[in-house]
Amino acid sequence: MRVLVVGSGGREHALCWAIAKSPKCKKLYCAPGNAGIAKVAECVDIGADDIDDLVCFAIENDIDFVVVGPEAPLVAGLVDQLMKSGIKAFGPSAQAAKIEGSKGFMKDLCAKYNIPSGYYDRFDEPDAAKEYILRKRAPIVVKADGLAAGKGVILCRNENEAYAAIDHIMAERAFGEAGDEVVIEEFLRGEEASFFALVDGEHALPLLSAQDHKSAHDGGEGPNTGGMGAYSPAPVITGKMAKTIMNTIILPTVEAMAAEGVPYKGVLYAGLMITNDGPKVLEFNARFGDPETQPLILQLKSDLLEALLACAEGRLDKLKLKWRDEAALTVVMAANGYPGYYEKGAQIKGLEKAEELDNVVVFHAGTVADGPNVFANGGRVLGVTALGKTVADAQKLAYQAVDLIDWPEGFCRRDIGWRTIKRRK
Ligand code: AMP
Ligand code: GLY
Repeated sequence: MRVLVVGSGGREHALCWAIAKSPKCKKLYCAPGNAGIAKVAECVDIGADDIDDLVCFAIENDIDFVVVGPEAPLVAGLVDQLMKSGIKAFGPSAQAAKIEGSKGFMKDLCAKYNIPSGYYDRFDEPDAAKEYILRKRAPIVVKADGLAAGKGVILCRNENEAYAAIDHIMAERAFGEAGDEVVIEEFLRGEEASFFALVDGEHALPLLSAQDHKSAHDGGEGPNTGGMGAYSPAPVITGKMAKTIMNTIILPTVEAMAAEGVPYKGVLYAGLMITNDGPKVLEFNARFGDPETQPLILQLKSDLLEALLACAEGRLDKLKLKWRDEAALTVVMAANGYPGYYEKGAQIKGLEKAEELDNVVVFHAGTVADGPNVFANGGRVLGVTALGKTVADAQKLAYQAVDLIDWPEGFCRRDIGWRTIKRRK
């Protein structure tokens, strides 16, 4: 089978790394890919958002199956366009991807179908939004309705911050069109975790849970990022909790989407707050997490390509997945300055030494190669991933690998996994 993966991050490297191992995969392309992906797939110079060019490439190169990594091409209808051309694809339709692409859509769905989530309201006009804040009081959360590259969420400690957030989104148009509307919602307290399930329109198959580390610096300091590290599974999601999440959140959402006439297919990523009243939805994403996918993939013993195909073909009820009984942890190495301004182009050395360690895989994100040399080419650049018996073991090994990488222009958090390690002490 000829497969095309769309995207260029650490998530897509992890997907390509696993798909390339499948006996079913005869040829693997990635658009646009990166220096690490180029070792397991043929990279094609087409951007992940160039829907027409991607569809043309898939037709001209007899692609049998397309796996879409990021949210933007999903929301822009890449899967719909591929299907129209008779090409099988993994990921939701544009309509179904609204579960991530419109926070208002997601909250309305939860409210209509009793899927646990915080209270909320939607506003397309700032004065009414401010009145709501005056009634509900802070702390409260203000979100731009549309996609804002993970930046459209503002946690407000007091009412003034909330008013400023509304002005930032609606008057200053900080996130462009994504701020035509705002969602204001309850500030939920508890422990945050991510839960992933494959969904084929009708059936859902749980994958593993994970925990991300969103702030740039140790101890939760610094600005929010796309994610500076993750581990899987998340101990807060016990076997019993996973069942509760499937029964109260994932399966009702699958049924709700089908009832709305927009059956959901692809990976459903639930961003959850585990509160004293049980798990509640913070957000849904219509794609795999980055960096959560990197540790998750290292845990998977089954054939990933077969699983993604079963999902796209509506056969998930017959699929069983095998997982390692271990922990996996990813430390993201980013360019100095990320998530603010950073330089590109510095050489990264020592990658081979890090990769020689057993149970370590270095997934690439923003990298480019020139011959055998690898250079930084983005904000998040590497995802150093290790397996261990426990999160503490995986953490130790991941940092051992990080320390073999010679890249003074980059940095990482030194505390990935702290929550779990502290829990065990
Ligand atoms: P999101 O992009 O919706 O995941 O939001 C980014 C981060 O903001 C989440 O990972 C949470 O840490 C936090 N967050 C979002 N919504 C809420 C909420 N309703 N209550 C508390 N924290 C939230
Ligand atoms: N790591 C957070 C995300 O993928 O949205």
